[in-house]
Amino acid sequence: MTLNESIHYHKNKLYVDSVSVTEIVQSVGTPVYIYSLRRALNNLERIKTAFTALDTHIHYSAKANANLTILRTLIEDGVGVDAVSGGEIFRALKAGVAPQNIVFAGVGKSESEIQFALEKGVGWFNVENVRELDFINYYAEDMGLSGIKIALRLNPDVTANTHPYIATGHGGAKFGLTATVIANVLKQQSQWINLDFRGLHIHIGSQLGDTLATQQAIQKALDLLAPYPNMKTLNIGGGMPAQYDSQAQLPSFEMFAHDIMPMLRDYTVLLEPGRSIIADAGILVGQVLYTKNQAAQHIAITDASMTELIRPALYQAKHEIVPVAENHSKTQVTQVVGPVCETADVLGRDIPLATLNEGDLVVALTAGAYGAVMSSNYNARPKPAEVVVAANGESWHVARRRETWEDLVAKEI
Ligand code: LLP
Repeated sequence: MTLNESIHYHKNKLYVDSVSVTEIVQSVGTPVYIYSLRRALNNLERIKTAFTALDTHIHYSAKANANLTILRTLIEDGVGVDAVSGGEIFRALKAGVAPQNIVFAGVGKSESEIQFALEKGVGWFNVENVRELDFINYYAEDMGLSGIKIALRLNPDVTANTHPYIATGHGGAKFGLTATVIANVLKQQSQWINLDFRGLHIHIGSQLGDTLATQQAIQKALDLLAPYPNMKTLNIGGGMPAQYDSQAQLPSFEMFAHDIMPMLRDYTVLLEPGRSIIADAGILVGQVLYTKNQAAQHIAITDASMTELIRPALYQAKHEIVPVAENHSKTQVTQVVGPVCETADVLGRDIPLATLNEGDLVVALTAGAYGAVMSSNYNARPKPAEVVVAANGESWHVARRRETWEDLVAKEI
Protein backbone atom coordinates (compact mmCIF):
# COMPACT_ATOMS: atom_id res chain seq x y z
CA MET A 1 0.00 0.00 0.00
CA THR A 2 1.19 3.50 -0.73
CA LEU A 3 0.88 4.62 2.86
CA ASN A 4 3.70 6.64 4.41
CA GLU A 5 4.77 8.02 7.80
CA SER A 6 2.01 10.62 7.65
CA ILE A 7 -0.82 8.64 6.06
CA HIS A 8 -0.91 5.49 8.17
CA TYR A 9 -2.98 3.06 10.19
CA HIS A 10 -2.92 3.07 13.96
CA LYS A 11 -4.88 0.35 15.71
CA ASN A 12 -6.66 -0.41 12.42
CA LYS A 13 -7.86 3.17 11.90
CA LEU A 14 -6.49 5.54 9.28
CA TYR A 15 -4.67 8.62 10.56
CA VAL A 16 -3.14 11.68 9.01
CA ASP A 17 -0.16 12.20 11.29
CA SER A 18 -1.71 12.08 14.77
CA VAL A 19 -5.24 12.96 13.70
CA SER A 20 -7.88 10.32 13.11
CA VAL A 21 -9.58 10.58 9.74
CA THR A 22 -12.88 9.60 11.39
CA GLU A 23 -12.59 12.54 13.78
CA ILE A 24 -12.22 14.96 10.86
CA VAL A 25 -15.10 13.39 8.96
CA GLN A 26 -17.38 13.54 12.00
CA SER A 27 -16.89 17.26 12.10
CA VAL A 28 -16.53 18.18 8.40
CA GLY A 29 -18.41 15.46 6.51
CA THR A 30 -17.55 13.84 3.18
CA PRO A 31 -16.25 14.07 0.55
CA VAL A 32 -13.22 15.78 2.03
CA TYR A 33 -9.59 16.23 1.08
CA ILE A 34 -7.13 16.00 3.94
CA TYR A 35 -3.51 17.13 3.60
CA SER A 36 -0.53 16.52 5.84
CA LEU A 37 1.60 19.65 5.96
CA ARG A 38 4.29 17.61 7.67
CA ARG A 39 4.52 15.25 4.70
CA ALA A 40 4.61 18.12 2.19
CA LEU A 41 7.40 19.83 4.11
CA ASN A 42 9.34 16.57 4.39
CA ASN A 43 9.10 16.06 0.64
CA LEU A 44 10.32 19.60 0.07
CA GLU A 45 13.19 19.08 2.49
CA ARG A 46 14.26 15.93 0.67
CA ILE A 47 14.29 17.74 -2.66
CA LYS A 48 16.35 20.59 -1.19
CA THR A 49 18.82 18.10 0.28
CA ALA A 50 19.09 16.05 -2.92
CA PHE A 51 20.03 19.12 -4.96
CA THR A 52 22.09 20.86 -2.33
CA ALA A 53 25.34 20.59 -4.31
CA LEU A 54 23.94 22.96 -6.95
CA ASP A 55 22.80 26.57 -6.78
CA THR A 56 19.14 25.51 -6.81
CA HIS A 57 15.96 27.54 -6.46
CA ILE A 58 12.69 25.70 -5.96
CA HIS A 59 9.51 27.16 -7.41
CA TYR A 60 6.58 25.06 -6.23
CA SER A 61 4.22 24.44 -9.13
CA ALA A 62 0.94 25.89 -7.89
CA LYS A 63 -1.10 24.01 -10.48
CA ALA A 64 -0.64 20.80 -8.44
CA ASN A 65 -2.45 22.22 -5.42
CA ALA A 66 -3.00 25.94 -5.03
CA ASN A 67 -4.85 25.90 -1.72
CA LEU A 68 -3.73 29.07 0.10
CA THR A 69 -2.70 27.17 3.23
CA ILE A 70 -0.54 24.81 1.20
CA LEU A 71 1.01 27.71 -0.71
CA ARG A 72 1.59 29.74 2.47
CA THR A 73 3.23 26.79 4.23
CA LEU A 74 5.64 26.07 1.39
CA ILE A 75 6.40 29.76 0.79
CA GLU A 76 7.21 30.21 4.49
CA ASP A 77 9.62 27.34 4.07
CA GLY A 78 11.48 29.31 1.43
CA VAL A 79 10.14 28.27 -1.97
CA GLY A 80 9.11 30.49 -4.83
CA VAL A 81 6.09 29.69 -7.02
CA ASP A 82 5.67 28.50 -10.60
CA ALA A 83 2.44 30.16 -11.76
CA VAL A 84 0.72 29.41 -15.03
CA SER A 85 -1.97 32.10 -15.14
CA GLY A 86 -2.83 35.51 -13.78
CA GLY A 87 -5.07 33.70 -11.30
CA GLU A 88 -2.21 31.62 -9.96
CA ILE A 89 -0.03 34.73 -9.64
CA PHE A 90 -2.88 36.36 -7.71
CA ARG A 91 -3.17 33.34 -5.42
CA ALA A 92 0.57 33.11 -4.87
CA LEU A 93 0.75 36.79 -3.94
CA LYS A 94 -2.20 36.36 -1.55
CA ALA A 95 -0.27 33.53 0.06
CA GLY A 96 2.63 35.90 0.65
CA VAL A 97 5.22 35.06 -1.97
CA ALA A 98 7.64 37.84 -2.92
CA PRO A 99 6.82 38.70 -6.55
CA GLN A 100 10.44 38.28 -7.64
CA ASN A 101 10.17 34.63 -6.53
CA ILE A 102 7.43 33.88 -9.05
CA VAL A 103 8.15 32.33 -12.43
CA PHE A 104 5.33 32.94 -14.88
CA ALA A 105 4.94 30.08 -17.35
CA GLY A 106 2.28 29.18 -19.88
CA VAL A 107 1.81 28.52 -23.55
CA GLY A 108 -0.84 31.22 -23.96
CA LYS A 109 -0.35 34.21 -21.68
CA SER A 110 -2.89 36.89 -22.48
CA GLU A 111 -1.80 40.51 -22.83
CA SER A 112 -3.67 41.42 -19.65
CA GLU A 113 -1.92 38.63 -17.75
CA ILE A 114 1.44 39.88 -19.04
CA GLN A 115 0.58 43.42 -17.91
CA PHE A 116 -0.52 42.15 -14.49
CA ALA A 117 2.68 40.13 -14.07
CA LEU A 118 4.85 43.12 -15.02
CA GLU A 119 2.93 45.44 -12.70
CA LYS A 120 3.42 43.05 -9.82
CA GLY A 121 7.11 42.51 -10.62
CA VAL A 122 7.23 38.76 -11.16
CA GLY A 123 10.77 37.42 -11.27
CA TRP A 124 10.81 35.46 -14.50
CA PHE A 125 8.81 34.92 -17.64
CA ASN A 126 9.14 31.44 -19.16
CA VAL A 127 8.43 32.29 -22.78
CA GLU A 128 6.94 29.90 -25.34
CA ASN A 129 6.16 32.16 -28.28
CA VAL A 130 8.17 34.81 -30.13
CA ARG A 131 5.17 37.19 -30.16
CA GLU A 132 5.08 36.90 -26.39
CA LEU A 133 8.53 38.53 -26.34
CA ASP A 134 7.11 41.45 -28.31
CA PHE A 135 4.24 41.87 -25.85
CA ILE A 136 6.43 41.66 -22.75
CA ASN A 137 8.91 44.10 -24.27
CA TYR A 138 6.13 46.49 -25.33
CA TYR A 139 4.34 46.58 -21.98
CA ALA A 140 7.64 46.82 -20.09
CA GLU A 141 8.48 49.88 -22.20
CA ASP A 142 5.06 51.32 -21.47
CA MET A 143 5.59 50.93 -17.73
CA GLY A 144 9.19 52.17 -17.81
CA LEU A 145 10.58 48.76 -16.90
CA SER A 146 13.68 47.03 -18.22
CA GLY A 147 15.84 44.00 -17.48
CA ILE A 148 12.83 41.66 -17.44
CA LYS A 149 14.24 38.17 -16.91
CA ILE A 150 13.37 35.72 -19.66
CA ALA A 151 13.84 31.96 -19.87
CA LEU A 152 12.93 30.67 -23.32
CA ARG A 153 11.13 27.35 -23.11
CA LEU A 154 12.75 24.76 -25.32
CA ASN A 155 10.69 21.98 -26.81
CA PRO A 156 13.58 19.50 -26.81
CA ASP A 157 11.78 16.91 -28.91
CA VAL A 158 12.37 14.03 -26.52
CA THR A 159 9.96 11.31 -25.50
CA ALA A 160 9.24 11.26 -21.82
CA ASN A 161 8.41 7.97 -20.17
CA THR A 162 4.94 8.89 -18.89
CA HIS A 163 1.24 8.97 -19.77
CA PRO A 164 0.79 10.61 -23.21
CA TYR A 165 -1.55 13.28 -21.81
CA ILE A 166 1.13 14.60 -19.49
CA ALA A 167 4.13 14.34 -21.82
CA THR A 168 5.09 17.80 -23.03
CA GLY A 169 8.57 17.55 -24.55
CA HIS A 170 7.98 15.70 -27.82
CA GLY A 171 8.06 17.62 -31.09
CA GLY A 172 4.32 17.31 -31.68
CA ALA A 173 3.38 18.91 -28.34
CA LYS A 174 2.13 22.50 -28.29
CA PHE A 175 4.71 23.47 -25.69
CA GLY A 176 7.92 25.45 -26.01
CA LEU A 177 9.94 26.70 -28.95
CA THR A 178 12.05 24.60 -31.28
CA ALA A 179 15.82 24.66 -30.98
CA THR A 180 16.02 26.49 -34.32
CA VAL A 181 13.69 29.26 -33.21
CA ILE A 182 15.55 29.64 -29.92
CA ALA A 183 18.91 29.84 -31.67
CA ASN A 184 17.53 32.62 -33.88
CA VAL A 185 15.98 34.54 -31.00
CA LEU A 186 19.22 34.41 -29.06
CA LYS A 187 21.15 35.78 -32.03
CA GLN A 188 18.75 38.71 -32.24
CA GLN A 189 18.17 39.22 -28.54
CA SER A 190 19.21 42.87 -28.57
CA GLN A 191 16.06 43.72 -30.52
CA TRP A 192 13.97 43.26 -27.36
CA ILE A 193 15.64 46.05 -25.47
CA ASN A 194 13.77 45.67 -22.20
CA LEU A 195 14.32 41.94 -21.88
CA ASP A 196 17.20 40.14 -20.24
CA PHE A 197 17.69 36.70 -21.78
CA ARG A 198 19.08 34.81 -18.81
CA GLY A 199 18.45 31.18 -19.56
CA LEU A 200 16.30 28.39 -20.89
CA HIS A 201 13.38 26.44 -19.51
CA ILE A 202 12.42 22.83 -20.14
CA HIS A 203 9.59 20.71 -18.80
CA ILE A 204 9.23 17.45 -20.67
CA GLY A 205 6.37 15.93 -18.71
CA SER A 206 5.00 14.97 -15.36
CA GLN A 207 5.25 11.71 -13.40
CA LEU A 208 8.46 10.77 -15.22
CA GLY A 209 9.32 7.09 -15.06
CA ASP A 210 13.05 7.60 -15.56
CA THR A 211 15.63 10.33 -16.00
CA LEU A 212 16.82 9.50 -19.50
CA ALA A 213 14.68 11.95 -21.48
CA THR A 214 15.41 14.67 -18.91
CA GLN A 215 19.13 14.16 -19.45
CA GLN A 216 18.66 14.34 -23.23
CA ALA A 217 16.61 17.52 -22.89
CA ILE A 218 19.16 19.16 -20.60
CA GLN A 219 21.92 18.33 -23.08
CA LYS A 220 19.98 19.99 -25.90
CA ALA A 221 19.46 23.06 -23.75
CA LEU A 222 23.14 23.23 -22.80
CA ASP A 223 24.12 22.99 -26.49
CA LEU A 224 21.93 26.00 -27.26
CA LEU A 225 23.41 27.97 -24.37
CA ALA A 226 27.03 27.11 -25.20
CA PRO A 227 27.66 30.23 -27.37
CA TYR A 228 26.33 32.51 -24.60
CA PRO A 229 28.59 32.29 -21.54
CA ASN A 230 26.49 34.90 -19.71
CA MET A 231 23.37 32.74 -19.82
CA LYS A 232 23.87 30.52 -16.85
CA THR A 233 20.37 29.63 -15.70
CA LEU A 234 18.48 26.50 -16.59
CA ASN A 235 14.95 25.89 -15.35
CA ILE A 236 14.34 22.15 -15.60
CA GLY A 237 10.63 22.23 -14.71
CA GLY A 238 8.83 19.61 -12.65
CA GLY A 239 8.20 15.97 -13.40
CA MET A 240 9.60 14.07 -10.45
CA PRO A 241 7.13 11.26 -9.79
CA ALA A 242 4.95 10.32 -6.85
CA GLN A 243 4.44 6.74 -5.69
CA TYR A 244 0.85 5.89 -6.66
CA ASP A 245 1.64 2.20 -6.59
CA SER A 246 4.03 0.79 -4.04
CA GLN A 247 5.29 -1.78 -6.58
CA ALA A 248 6.27 0.78 -9.24
CA GLN A 249 9.98 1.31 -9.78
CA LEU A 250 10.38 5.06 -10.00
CA PRO A 251 13.37 7.36 -9.69
CA SER A 252 13.66 8.96 -6.26
CA PHE A 253 14.61 12.62 -5.73
CA GLU A 254 18.10 11.43 -4.96
CA MET A 255 18.32 9.43 -8.21
CA PHE A 256 17.07 12.40 -10.20
CA ALA A 257 19.66 14.66 -8.61
CA HIS A 258 22.40 12.07 -9.05
CA ASP A 259 21.68 11.65 -12.77
CA ILE A 260 21.43 15.29 -13.75
CA MET A 261 23.59 17.29 -11.35
CA PRO A 262 26.90 16.48 -13.06
CA MET A 263 25.54 18.16 -16.22
CA LEU A 264 24.62 21.35 -14.38
CA ARG A 265 27.63 22.16 -12.22
CA ASP A 266 28.19 25.66 -13.66
CA TYR A 267 24.52 26.59 -13.69
CA THR A 268 21.93 28.15 -11.49
CA VAL A 269 19.11 25.62 -11.55
CA LEU A 270 15.43 26.33 -11.12
CA LEU A 271 13.11 23.45 -10.25
CA GLU A 272 9.32 23.49 -10.52
CA PRO A 273 8.15 20.45 -8.56
CA GLY A 274 4.43 20.11 -7.90
CA ARG A 275 3.26 16.51 -7.64
CA SER A 276 6.36 15.25 -5.87
CA ILE A 277 5.75 17.67 -2.99
CA ILE A 278 2.02 17.35 -2.45
CA ALA A 279 0.65 14.14 -4.04
CA ASP A 280 1.42 11.71 -1.24
CA ALA A 281 0.57 14.31 1.41
CA GLY A 282 -3.12 14.22 0.48
CA ILE A 283 -6.08 11.87 0.58
CA LEU A 284 -9.67 12.09 -0.57
CA VAL A 285 -12.21 10.58 1.83
CA GLY A 286 -15.65 9.46 0.71
CA GLN A 287 -18.50 7.58 2.33
CA VAL A 288 -20.26 4.55 0.92
CA LEU A 289 -23.86 5.48 0.06
CA TYR A 290 -24.98 2.14 -1.40
CA THR A 291 -23.60 -1.16 -2.56
CA LYS A 292 -24.94 -3.48 -5.19
CA ASN A 293 -24.07 -6.67 -7.01
CA GLN A 294 -24.72 -6.34 -10.68
CA ALA A 295 -23.36 -7.88 -13.88
CA ALA A 296 -21.12 -10.11 -11.79
CA GLN A 297 -19.55 -7.11 -10.13
CA HIS A 298 -19.57 -5.83 -6.58
CA ILE A 299 -20.11 -2.09 -6.74
CA ALA A 300 -19.69 0.44 -3.93
CA ILE A 301 -21.19 3.83 -4.66
CA THR A 302 -19.52 6.58 -2.67
CA ASP A 303 -20.19 10.29 -2.30
CA ALA A 304 -16.70 10.95 -3.71
CA SER A 305 -16.65 11.03 -7.48
CA MET A 306 -14.92 12.26 -10.60
CA THR A 307 -15.99 15.80 -9.73
CA GLU A 308 -13.63 15.69 -6.74
CA LEU A 309 -10.91 13.54 -8.35
CA ILE A 310 -10.95 13.36 -12.13
CA ARG A 311 -7.59 11.66 -12.62
CA PRO A 312 -8.92 8.07 -12.90
CA ALA A 313 -11.53 9.13 -15.48
CA LEU A 314 -9.22 11.40 -17.43
CA TYR A 315 -5.91 9.50 -17.44
CA GLN A 316 -6.92 6.02 -16.30
CA ALA A 317 -4.83 6.94 -13.28
CA LYS A 318 -4.80 4.41 -10.46
CA HIS A 319 -5.19 5.69 -6.94
CA GLU A 320 -5.11 3.01 -4.29
CA ILE A 321 -8.40 2.82 -2.42
CA VAL A 322 -8.35 1.79 1.23
CA PRO A 323 -10.95 1.74 4.00
CA VAL A 324 -10.63 4.12 6.96
CA ALA A 325 -11.30 1.19 9.28
CA GLU A 326 -8.80 -1.48 8.34
CA ASN A 327 -10.47 -4.82 8.01
CA HIS A 328 -8.52 -8.05 7.62
CA SER A 329 -11.45 -10.21 6.56
CA LYS A 330 -11.67 -11.78 3.10
CA THR A 331 -11.50 -9.31 0.23
CA GLN A 332 -13.67 -9.15 -2.85
CA VAL A 333 -13.01 -7.35 -6.07
CA THR A 334 -14.91 -4.08 -5.84
CA GLN A 335 -15.73 -1.29 -8.25
CA VAL A 336 -15.59 1.96 -6.30
CA VAL A 337 -17.71 4.49 -8.17
CA GLY A 338 -19.19 7.93 -7.63
CA PRO A 339 -22.76 9.19 -8.11
CA VAL A 340 -22.07 11.27 -11.24
CA CYS A 341 -24.00 10.47 -14.40
CA GLU A 342 -21.00 9.28 -16.38
CA THR A 343 -19.84 5.73 -16.96
CA ALA A 344 -16.29 7.02 -16.50
CA ASP A 345 -17.09 8.03 -12.91
CA VAL A 346 -15.08 5.21 -11.38
CA LEU A 347 -12.63 6.10 -8.62
CA GLY A 348 -11.15 2.64 -8.44
CA ARG A 349 -11.61 -0.33 -10.76
CA ASP A 350 -11.22 -3.92 -9.56
CA ILE A 351 -10.02 -3.01 -6.09
CA PRO A 352 -9.65 -5.90 -3.65
CA LEU A 353 -11.45 -4.69 -0.52
CA ALA A 354 -13.05 -6.33 2.50
CA THR A 355 -16.81 -6.09 2.03
CA LEU A 356 -17.92 -2.49 2.20
CA ASN A 357 -21.21 -1.52 3.81
CA GLU A 358 -23.33 1.60 3.74
CA GLY A 359 -21.73 4.31 5.82
CA ASP A 360 -18.18 2.97 5.57
CA LEU A 361 -15.47 5.49 4.84
CA VAL A 362 -13.09 4.88 1.97
CA VAL A 363 -10.03 6.81 0.92
CA ALA A 364 -8.28 7.45 -2.38
CA LEU A 365 -4.58 7.69 -1.58
CA THR A 366 -1.96 9.96 -3.17
CA ALA A 367 -4.63 12.50 -4.05
CA GLY A 368 -2.93 15.70 -2.91
CA ALA A 369 -1.77 16.75 -6.39
CA TYR A 370 -4.09 17.52 -9.31
CA GLY A 371 -7.04 16.54 -7.13
CA ALA A 372 -8.90 19.48 -5.62
CA VAL A 373 -7.48 21.88 -8.23
CA MET A 374 -9.10 19.85 -11.01
CA SER A 375 -12.42 19.42 -9.24
CA SER A 376 -15.57 20.67 -10.92
CA ASN A 377 -19.19 21.50 -10.23
CA TYR A 378 -20.51 19.06 -12.82
CA ASN A 379 -23.93 17.67 -11.90
CA ALA A 380 -24.20 20.77 -9.66
CA ARG A 381 -22.03 19.13 -7.07
CA PRO A 382 -20.54 21.55 -4.55
CA LYS A 383 -16.76 21.32 -4.30
CA PRO A 384 -15.52 19.39 -1.28
CA ALA A 385 -14.00 20.73 1.91
CA GLU A 386 -10.22 20.73 2.24
CA VAL A 387 -8.64 20.13 5.63
CA VAL A 388 -5.01 20.50 6.61
CA VAL A 389 -3.26 18.79 9.47
CA ALA A 390 -0.61 21.16 10.78
CA ALA A 391 3.10 20.40 10.74
CA ASN A 392 2.93 19.55 14.43
CA GLY A 393 0.83 16.58 13.34
CA GLU A 394 -1.90 17.31 15.88
CA SER A 395 -3.95 20.38 15.12
CA TRP A 396 -6.09 20.59 12.04
CA HIS A 397 -8.39 23.11 10.41
CA VAL A 398 -10.66 23.53 7.43
CA ALA A 399 -8.52 25.28 4.82
CA ARG A 400 -11.36 25.54 2.32
CA ARG A 401 -14.94 25.17 3.40
CA ARG A 402 -17.30 22.90 1.55
CA GLU A 403 -19.25 24.77 -1.14
CA THR A 404 -22.97 25.20 -0.66
CA TRP A 405 -25.82 25.12 -3.17
CA GLU A 406 -25.97 28.90 -2.79
CA ASP A 407 -22.31 29.08 -3.89
CA LEU A 408 -23.29 27.19 -7.02
CA VAL A 409 -25.63 29.96 -8.18
CA ALA A 410 -23.92 32.97 -6.60
CA LYS A 411 -22.18 34.11 -9.78
CA GLU A 412 -25.18 33.87 -12.05
CA ILE A 413 -27.25 36.88 -12.94
N1 LLP B 1 6.39 23.09 -14.71
C1 LLP B 1 5.63 23.07 -15.82
C2 LLP B 1 5.98 23.96 -16.93
C3 LLP B 1 4.54 22.20 -15.91
O1 LLP B 1 3.82 22.18 -17.02
C4 LLP B 1 4.23 21.34 -14.82
C5 LLP B 1 3.09 20.45 -14.89
C6 LLP B 1 5.05 21.42 -13.67
C7 LLP B 1 6.12 22.29 -13.66
C8 LLP B 1 4.80 20.56 -12.47
O2 LLP B 1 5.03 19.26 -12.76
P1 LLP B 1 5.04 18.11 -11.63
O3 LLP B 1 6.20 18.34 -10.71
O4 LLP B 1 3.78 18.20 -10.90
O5 LLP B 1 5.18 16.87 -12.42
N2 LLP B 1 -3.06 17.02 -14.32
C9 LLP B 1 -2.01 16.06 -14.61
C10 LLP B 1 -0.62 16.68 -14.50
C11 LLP B 1 -0.42 17.87 -15.41
C12 LLP B 1 0.95 18.46 -15.25
C13 LLP B 1 1.05 19.73 -16.01
N3 LLP B 1 2.30 20.38 -15.88
C14 LLP B 1 -2.17 14.86 -13.68
O6 LLP B 1 -3.11 14.84 -12.89
O7 LLP B 1 -1.39 13.93 -13.74
